[in-house]
Amino acid sequence: EADEADGLRTPIVAVLGHVDHGKTTLLDTIRGSAVSEGEAGAITQHIGATAVPLETVSEMAGDLVDPTDFDLPGLLFIDTPGHHSFTTLRSRGGALADIAVVVVDVNDGFQPQTIEALEILQRTGTPFVVAANKIDTTPGWNPNDGAPIQATYEQQSEGARGRLDENLYEIIGDLSDEGFSADLYWRVQNFTKNVGVVPLSAITSEGVPDLLAVLMGLSQRYMKEQMAIDVTGPGAGTVLEVKDERGFGATVDVVLYDGSIRADDEIVVGGVDGPIVTEVRALLQPRPNAEIRVEKRFDKVDEVRAAAGIKVAAPELDDAMAGAPIRVIRDRDRADVIEEVEAE
Ligand code: GTP
Ligand code: MG
Repeated sequence: EADEADGLRTPIVAVLGHVDHGKTTLLDTIRGSAVSEGEAGAITQHIGATAVPLETVSEMAGDLVDPTDFDLPGLLFIDTPGHHSFTTLRSRGGALADIAVVVVDVNDGFQPQTIEALEILQRTGTPFVVAANKIDTTPGWNPNDGAPIQATYEQQSEGARGRLDENLYEIIGDLSDEGFSADLYWRVQNFTKNVGVVPLSAITSEGVPDLLAVLMGLSQRYMKEQMAIDVTGPGAGTVLEVKDERGFGATVDVVLYDGSIRADDEIVVGGVDGPIVTEVRALLQPRPNAEIRVEKRFDKVDEVRAAAGIKVAAPELDDAMAGAPIRVIRDRDRADVIEEVEAE
């Protein structure tokens, strides 16, 4: 696997934004699934994780991403809920992120959880781009499925272009009101100083190639140092959910953001009554492009390297806590690791 071929860590990309602005649909388009359609009440209620391999990214992005230009194994996308009651989950998702996508419905514009997302990212110092979603709902829009934004833009009527421009400039203005200097992404020189806005549609995939190209470029160019960590050291992660899995009892779905976890590792997991020290019984990996939240067929693996979404089966996990840290002990002092988990 690409993961093993090089030492670079997969960048973690968090997707944040107001409820119904299209975060899950955007990820569905990228990974080729229909998670959004199966959601109760059509809202996301948990943090999700999906490993999208470089091959999938380059297939989707066409000419805009040449896989030979990159030595990143792919992107790990974190989906977050936009409903106002899930502030904690959004903060958790934002804290995990190396980079982020703030999804804004181009017609709805900035909404309370859009601003909240920006505040989270500002607090954690996470670079981000804005996906101005649902451009296909612009009155008079003539869709070109899967096209890069400039190609489809040129084929629109003057009226449709004008209406889209108006909405985009409103978003750029709103970003400026929040203290971010922003512009359409193709005019941005330095993405760490200015916020790039990528107009797109999660339904027609127009502009999605552009978003993927920007995310890959941003990761490779500005974060290479951050990604060049030891992905074989003792792992560190965050528990997303505690779930009963048939044949395994209580398991934890984890985002591993540092190092590795092995099937014979001793681990410490934050629990309701303090740290739980236990031994991994099985590492269950979702298939590539699968959302861990809904995956049914996991592959049993011997080792996983960061960043990854992984289901960990181990005894004593009934009292594990969503949001708690998980740490691999391996050659470290057990008491030190317990203390580390307690402190977090
Ligand atoms: P929460 O997770 O609950 O915050 O919502 P979300 O941001 O994940 O939104 P979701 O992907 O569930 O989409 C909400 C609705 O918008 C669904 O009915 C989607 O089909 C629709 N939608 C999302 N993206 C687009 C788009 O680009 N164009 C159009 N026309 N509809 C879209
Ligand atoms: Mg969602």
